[in-house]
Amino acid sequence: MRSLATAAPSSWKGHIMTITRVFSGYQPTGRLTLGNLLGSIRPAVALQDRAECLYAVVDLHALTVQHDPAALRARTIEAATLLRACGLDRSIGYLQSQVTAHAELAYLLECTAHVGELQRMIQYKQKAGQARVNRVSLLTYPVLMAADILVHRTDLVPVGDDQRQHLELTRDLAVRFNRSYGEVFTVPDGVHPPLAARVMDLAEPTVKMSKSTTSDAGVIHLLDPPEQIRAAVARAVTDSEGQVRYDPDTKPGVSNLLAILSACTGVAPDQVAPSSYRALKAEVAEAVVEMLRPIQDRYRHLAADPADTERFLVDGAARAAELAAPVLAAAQDAIGLVPAGRGLPVYGGVGN
Ligand code: TYM
Repeated sequence: MRSLATAAPSSWKGHIMTITRVFSGYQPTGRLTLGNLLGSIRPAVALQDRAECLYAVVDLHALTVQHDPAALRARTIEAATLLRACGLDRSIGYLQSQVTAHAELAYLLECTAHVGELQRMIQYKQKAGQARVNRVSLLTYPVLMAADILVHRTDLVPVGDDQRQHLELTRDLAVRFNRSYGEVFTVPDGVHPPLAARVMDLAEPTVKMSKSTTSDAGVIHLLDPPEQIRAAVARAVTDSEGQVRYDPDTKPGVSNLLAILSACTGVAPDQVAPSSYRALKAEVAEAVVEMLRPIQDRYRHLAADPADTERFLVDGAARAAELAAPVLAAAQDAIGLVPAGRGLPVYGGVGN
């Protein structure tokens, strides 16, 4: 938390006001999903009135796996527009690659991280196991994520369950850097929604719903038309027991549907008890369609005026760069570099 005492208007003199800084990131590797919305975007929207919030479409992260440049650009613009449509319009939003401090700090943190701890990351092991050729950036990806967070001295990071390990690494790197070179970084905390922190794939309810799966059968994308959503939910894998009850271990499919319904309606999973799987699916489909309707309407409106989103992103990048610059300079200074523009004499000689 930062003290605003010096920046406060004179009528506030004597009061120390603190603000919390929030950062979240969204990879444009595919199209944003219901999992992204429930796990991170909605919690980030809710924090906007209580904190200084930043978010980035983390395009550099999308380069860690095989990609098509034109598709990446299109997905990046779609994600930026859609995040605004979801309600992230009172935050500082920008494209990660336009704020170079992210990549610059990532290098300093790479000089703090150990190969072994990166090799232990679950997502690295999963993705490296699937790929024919592994990019070095796939291994160093969590360090860039740490830089995204630490460069803003972030207090809170709204993320789904799948990012817990990366966040833990971010905390470790912050603590290690601070211990080695002096207090530069804030050690951040994660914010995870009580329900739907891990929305599962509807067709394969033991794996996370993901924008980069090879089959889209069990994925709900935020811009899917209502009939497609209804069809995906109707096809959702359940079990043969026939009883609607919440038990993620033995009934992953039904429990996932209950968690989604509950996250959409605000009613606890054990309080939502449709009589049959068919009734449950019908309720889930309608709840999701209704939740997405205003988002899709707003997306269409925003997409009709790309210059407006471009302005939003340009302003966001300028503000984010301004906030990141002193933190990057402090890290450079602490680690023994000479930050640009500081002048040499203050550092004196090396001595004998
Ligand atoms: P990404 O782009 O995969 O997902 C963005 C956010 O959505 C959450 N999420 C989910 N939550 C619940 N259920 C799901 N099925 C689901 N799928 C995704 C993710 O947890 C995430 O919060 N490495 C990050 C992007 C990133 C980032 C950052 C996040 C880069 N730098 C700094 C926070 C702070 C990622 O791949 O998220």
